[in-house]
Amino acid sequence: MLSASIYADTNFVISPLDRRLFGTFVEHLGRCVYGGIYEPGHPTADAQGFRGDVMALTRELGPTIVRYPGGNFLSGYNWEDGVGPKDQRPTKLDLAWGTTETNEFGTNEFIDWCRAADIEPMFAVNLGTRGADEARCFLEYCNHPGGSHYSDLRRAHGYEAPHDIKFWCLGNEMDGPWQICQKTANEYGRIAQETAKAMRMLDRSLTLAACGSSQREMPTYAAWEHEVLNQCFNQVDFISLHAYFKNEADDIETYFTSLEDLNFFIKEVAAIADTVASQKRSTKRIMLSLDEWNVWYKARTPADLKGVDWAKAPPLLEEIYTFEDALIVGGALIVMMNNADRVKTACLAQLVNVIGAIFTETGGPAWRQTIFHPFALASRVGHGVVLQPRVQTEGYATAAHPFVPYLLSTVLHNPETGEAVVFALNRSTKEEMDLQIDLRGVGERLELRAATELHHADLKAINSKAAPDEVSPKANAQVSVEGSRVQARLKPQSWNVIHLAGG
Ligand code: AHR
Repeated sequence: MLSASIYADTNFVISPLDRRLFGTFVEHLGRCVYGGIYEPGHPTADAQGFRGDVMALTRELGPTIVRYPGGNFLSGYNWEDGVGPKDQRPTKLDLAWGTTETNEFGTNEFIDWCRAADIEPMFAVNLGTRGADEARCFLEYCNHPGGSHYSDLRRAHGYEAPHDIKFWCLGNEMDGPWQICQKTANEYGRIAQETAKAMRMLDRSLTLAACGSSQREMPTYAAWEHEVLNQCFNQVDFISLHAYFKNEADDIETYFTSLEDLNFFIKEVAAIADTVASQKRSTKRIMLSLDEWNVWYKARTPADLKGVDWAKAPPLLEEIYTFEDALIVGGALIVMMNNADRVKTACLAQLVNVIGAIFTETGGPAWRQTIFHPFALASRVGHGVVLQPRVQTEGYATAAHPFVPYLLSTVLHNPETGEAVVFALNRSTKEEMDLQIDLRGVGERLELRAATELHHADLKAINSKAAPDEVSPKANAQVSVEGSRVQARLKPQSWNVIHLAGG
């Protein structure tokens, strides 16, 4: 039996938690849009063709913001193709994914879907094949009330009120050789700066994110962030991070250290942003947008990555998630919450079918993948401020990480409701953990609202059409409360949520 302890005091706070940390991502890729959120003729589809079963699961998942329309797709996308009467929209080839895009679904349909799902839209402008001119026209279409060419075009398309989209990404993964019109850091930084400037001239209320590296392993990583921010520091609010985790060696102890790597990645990018700030003698702090993150390594063969014969919405990147992947997703959420002072936005990539939390059969049912559960639980109870606890735990070592704590945890306190939530991952695959939690300032007589665990004996267990709930959360009866102390018994390889009310 392992033993661990958490001591937290409501006086010691890391940061308020930004609810945009529970975002997701919808790209025109594979069956994410077509056959995912949109499938006219599906038995659950509404008049606009939005799948009702996917909408219901999305609401249950609880994302707060959703990034659109890409991804790699973005760098060849002309937004004008996706607005106006559907029968007049052009069919185009998508070079990024080797598929045919009908443009049946575009900006206005996506906004309608977001409003129906009660999720904030996050849009991105194409800085691959296009630039500042298209960005300003697109923004005028979306956010200007009326009386100008593009705003009146939107009104003519049936959208009298502006969409009022606040959060915009300036391109996508512009450092990647796979990107249509890849740029050097200097080229991209200049374009991002000038595009952001033009966009702000039109709408001063925007929040703008520049592209960071497409992964920490990129050869240009760190130098890219430094040069990009050197160019566009004054015009942007965020720099993006993309992180995809993998268990290629099939070694769970190493796989768990993806979470240490994510923590390093976040701290490093924040440090680079602050270095640029210091060089500019600025007190401004650039925030981090982890606007693509997830597990992704199984569906990466050429057949998974490119459509054949320019197919329409073929099944691409259809990762089937295991229980161990869900532990990584739950652990990544803990790491992000512990960095809530800098990570203010994050998007689980993606929502449905394409490395998705939700999986559908075209014409058939939809179900929750294993990774759905930690996200849904965290989004539901993730409110308030993140505390700075003192944690004691045993750990293990890998070649790259001399100490990997078995317990990975975060503690939230909601001053408005008086509630507290502890998220705890037991990374031992063999031993239970006796966890003692001492919470000061939440209340002298805590009450247990719920103790929930995500556990399965088989790390490779999956959810499927035949067994959609094989991996799903259960109540943990081995949690008790006495005064301001909590005692919990955590199963090996389990991700846990302990929800408390102050008394
Ligand atoms: O999310 C899948 C792809 O991963 C995105 O299109 C791209 O931005 C990233 O490389």
